[in-house]
Amino acid sequence: MPQSPHRLWIDATLFDGLDAAAEPMAVAVKDGRIDWLKPMRALSEADRAGFELVDAEGRLLTPGLVDCHTHLVYGGNRAGEFEARLEGKSYEEIARAGGGILSTVRATRAASEEELFAAARPRLEALMADGVTTVEIKSGYGLDLENELKMLRVARRLGRELKVRVVTTLLGAHALPPEYKDDADGYIELVCQRMIPAAAAEGLADAVDVFCENIAFSVAQCERVYAAARAHGLAIKGHTEQLSNLGGSAAAARAGALSVDHVEYLDEAGVEALAEAGTVATLLPGAFYILRETKVPPIELLRRHGVPMALATDANPGTSPIFSLRLMLNMACTLFRLTPVEALRGVTAQGARALGLQRECGRIVPGMAADLCLWDTDNYAELAYSVGLPRLVHRIVAGEPA
Ligand code: NIG
Ligand code: FE
Repeated sequence: MPQSPHRLWIDATLFDGLDAAAEPMAVAVKDGRIDWLKPMRALSEADRAGFELVDAEGRLLTPGLVDCHTHLVYGGNRAGEFEARLEGKSYEEIARAGGGILSTVRATRAASEEELFAAARPRLEALMADGVTTVEIKSGYGLDLENELKMLRVARRLGRELKVRVVTTLLGAHALPPEYKDDADGYIELVCQRMIPAAAAEGLADAVDVFCENIAFSVAQCERVYAAARAHGLAIKGHTEQLSNLGGSAAAARAGALSVDHVEYLDEAGVEALAEAGTVATLLPGAFYILRETKVPPIELLRRHGVPMALATDANPGTSPIFSLRLMLNMACTLFRLTPVEALRGVTAQGARALGLQRECGRIVPGMAADLCLWDTDNYAELAYSVGLPRLVHRIVAGEPA
């Protein structure tokens, strides 16, 4: 294999995943990783030796974007449900009548692995075109052993065949499948005794997620899932406090969750639990927007308690049929009043942390994977301010154009 050239990015306006640099920077990439950084004014001729130079011409260099919460693999779509909601039906009403998630379950079960791959690919390519270099993909529309594993295999294959890092999450406890109607505990047993062990044994899942909600699973049921996940060495995440406040976020934090996601209805006790455990709060403004939610996540409390905030698309056929992480930057600022810096951290450093990848990607510091985006602007705030521009000039994964 030819050795990939060492590259030196010069004259970059840098946002390193947490902060903006005060002056133009040079970034050295060796063997797919960030080797060192220097201000341009301190760069000597000797520093440049042995590198292929890439002149950023003052443009903005950021870490490759991390979309830490998606449901990209699914069959069918829910445009009909979108119309029903416009005619006045609520998300919960549709779910209780067997539509919503369960309609996607029917379509996903009916689809072959090949069909699911072909359907998911353009969704992922849309995210990649937007600067995403790491993506998390959940199962959760199979709701039986065979179909949950099928979804995870498709997610793994996307990671092998496309130039993007894929992290997979088993979301068996997403909804109650019709076969277990009136036996939620029996279904949780299946998730814990069959799905988690199988997904772990086959190396198909990096984490386990749950939907903790009145229309899904109770805190006690989610805690059983967390215990099984931990017993199999898998990380934990939760869809919590999306539609009501059940205390699911605090329970997830106590179990050592990497992140709790949605969190519109999170209260101060929940925020304190996250702060204590170091759990990330992942904000999903796309679902908030599509559901026309009015309860904004407790941003000020999260700030005050120093809880890291990640930001993701939640790309899914029901609550967030949105395949643009950059749109989330704008929505997080407009709808949730995040600052552009907080929003950008949410799709870089904090997004990586929400996946347990904080030592691997999401920052431009020595030792990290050289996943980079070069944007046609010299102002990081433009990424959040504008929708559709600035243009993505280069997308780099592990040091290579992708
Ligand atoms: O993140 N909250 C539950 N799950 C998804 C929605 C899935 C769906 O409606 O298909 C979410 O919003
Ligand atoms: Fe989700």
